Amino acid sequence: MRTPFVAGNWKMNLDGARAAALVESIRSAATKTTAVEVGVFPPYPYLADVVRRCEGSSVRVGAQNCHAQNSGAFTGEVAAPMVKDVGATHVILGHSERRQFCGEDDAQVRAKLAAALAHGLVPIVCIGETLAERQAQRTLDVIRRQLDGALAGFSAAQLAPLVIAYEPVWAIGTGMNATPAQAVEVHRFIRASCAERFGAAFAAALRIQYGGSVKPENAAELLSEDEIDGALVGGASLDPRSFLSIVQAATV
Ligand code: 13P
Repeated sequence: MRTPFVAGNWKMNLDGARAAALVESIRSAATKTTAVEVGVFPPYPYLADVVRRCEGSSVRVGAQNCHAQNSGAFTGEVAAPMVKDVGATHVILGHSERRQFCGEDDAQVRAKLAAALAHGLVPIVCIGETLAERQAQRTLDVIRRQLDGALAGFSAAQLAPLVIAYEPVWAIGTGMNATPAQAVEVHRFIRASCAERFGAAFAAALRIQYGGSVKPENAAELLSEDEIDGALVGGASLDPRSFLSIVQAATV
């Protein structure tokens, strides 16, 4: 059985005081459950403080991105060993907002994935189609291309810690979530593609989160699907009550 993983992507929100208050509320409540893994992904400046506040708890803490290189003249960037050095254990890679606003492509996601794995970070690789791609019935082609691009050349053993987040771009921040049936279709396709590449055991153990307008009102119907192994939550993760109610929905 795969343990569901519910993670809050705080994106470029909050300030130090609000980040501290949010993680304190999550930490005290989330530590009570072992049936669900819980994670938070604060902006870089708050990462070290959030890590410190989560010490001794089961809450995972990660960065929202990392650079492919270990160091060098890359002004404004943060390297995987730096993320590791402040005590974070996870990193989100290839989020659609980075693909859209920062021009990240599949090859860059692959290079970042190599860096994350080399430094022992658990990567959450985000993939998903735009509305135009879905309407043109190209969803599965896009997913295949993103998987091929990001995962090419790795072995199943190297990718053992991998988590994939299926985040349809049209569902992110729009209030319009994928239906359970739409998400399940794509999750099954991702799992089958990974079975082809990395074997049945790898695919059976792979956790695939759904992300895109997950909120307390739709979490139960999405997370009750066997194929959906948790959620990557944006807006609703900024409110502890909403986030914890989504965590709760993943326990049943
Ligand atoms: P929303 O939950 O705000 O739609 O964002 C989803 C997301 O992008 C998580 O990474």
